[in-house]
Amino acid sequence: MTTRLSPTALILALACASPAFPKDGGKWVVGMSQCNLGEPWRVQMNADIRREAAAHPELELIFKDAQNDTLRQRAQIEEFVNSGVDLLIVSPKEAAPLTPPVAEAYRRGVPVIVLDRRVLGSDYTEFIGANNRMIGKAAGAWAVGRLAELPAVRKGARARVVELEGLMTSIPAQDRGAGFHEALKGAPVDIVYTADMKWLEPQARMEMESALSVQPQIDLVFAHNDPGAHGAYLAAQAAGRERDIIFVGIDALAQEGQVYVRQGVLAATFEYPTGGREAVEDALKILRRESVPKEVTLRSRVFTPDNVASGGEWLK
Ligand code: FRU
Repeated sequence: MTTRLSPTALILALACASPAFPKDGGKWVVGMSQCNLGEPWRVQMNADIRREAAAHPELELIFKDAQNDTLRQRAQIEEFVNSGVDLLIVSPKEAAPLTPPVAEAYRRGVPVIVLDRRVLGSDYTEFIGANNRMIGKAAGAWAVGRLAELPAVRKGARARVVELEGLMTSIPAQDRGAGFHEALKGAPVDIVYTADMKWLEPQARMEMESALSVQPQIDLVFAHNDPGAHGAYLAAQAAGRERDIIFVGIDALAQEGQVYVRQGVLAATFEYPTGGREAVEDALKILRRESVPKEVTLRSRVFTPDNVASGGEWLK
């Protein structure tokens, strides 16, 4: 048997099922767990979240910065849940150790949007991020093409590459590395030095100093982010070798990577969008009980000296 509702009752029922605003004219409280604010990219992510949220007075945002400390981030996620937030946005430092607190929040009924770095499993509401494997592969294909133009490589020599990895317990670093290696398969390119610089510029600089001291010839550095590529450039510059090396990074912030490209420091940078705006848009949908996809993949562009002035080129 079906029950017929009058149009007014139907509207009322729908309004209750998908509330456009929080109860009693209050606010929805959203906790944002940021793994660190050391890199410009994460400062940008928080700024993107703030800007989008500013247009929605029904949202109250609380930010916590874990200062690149996994245990602190675990504790901060638990604090958010215990304080009764309506929704969590988490950009986790590492995958495995941050999976349990995210899963626990989700199981306790708190919707969780995981942003940029993944956790393991599927105990969260939505993941938003770019395709790191595809970005790594595009960077690798770009590097292969560029290295093929070197006179020595044209004559049959193999090109020599340094890879400075992001924190390898985080999924973006694993995926960027895998995509890059995939693109290098069969090409006349050897990776002569690899180190985990943990996404950090000073660490990348140190690792590059070691690479320079043991490798008399380096043709290209692929760093998993722009701070890493810049750190490597500074080390090469100090050794008087920056002109012999092609530097490639990822992130392409307007105020960071794109500037390095304009300055001739980086030969290419691949965009890694923060997803801050999308996270707030979807947080609102979830809070209004509208459906969101489990997975949102953000698009990415490549910036080189040829296209940086015209806004880069979209990856396909
Ligand atoms: C900032 C950062 C970015 C990088 C992203 C990967 O902490 O290292 O540079 O693209 O995290 O999650």
